[in-house]
Amino acid sequence: MEQTLVLLKPDTVERGLCGEILGRFERKGLKIVRMQMVDLTVDVARVHYADHVGKPFYPELEKYITSGSIVAIILEGDEAISVVRKMIGVTNGIEAEAGTIRGDLAISKRQNLVHASDSPESAKREIKIFFANIPKLL
Ligand code: CMP
Repeated sequence: MEQTLVLLKPDTVERGLCGEILGRFERKGLKIVRMQMVDLTVDVARVHYADHVGKPFYPELEKYITSGSIVAIILEGDEAISVVRKMIGVTNGIEAEAGTIRGDLAISKRQNLVHASDSPESAKREIKIFFANIPKLL
């Protein structure tokens, strides 16, 4: 069993798509292990997106990800990290394949509804950022 961190970003909450997106993960057979709604501070955004700080698009990304509430979720299942990445599609909603979350529901590279860990190392690091008080999961 593998765990991954998923964020439903501010556009998902704003557009009322939490149920639609969570439903897709549940119907796939992934288990929701933990879930909480949070308002990201700039400092936490910088820790979460440490790899992107300094990139040209980072200032707008920071503005977007701190613009409203998000939902942080730990999903669990066989090969959950790659399964979830396949389900969300490529970064740019314009290019994402139909059938994926971004392909069906997003039309922007920045406002792309969801974030999901891209490797076991990222999953471990990101779960710790959002669920630091659950030592047995780390
Ligand atoms: P995410 O999978 O959360 O990882 C980094 C985020 O930065 C990405 O989704 C997008 O929201 C955003 N992003 C990545 N590349 C670009 C880009 N070229 N222009 C604008 N936003 C981007």
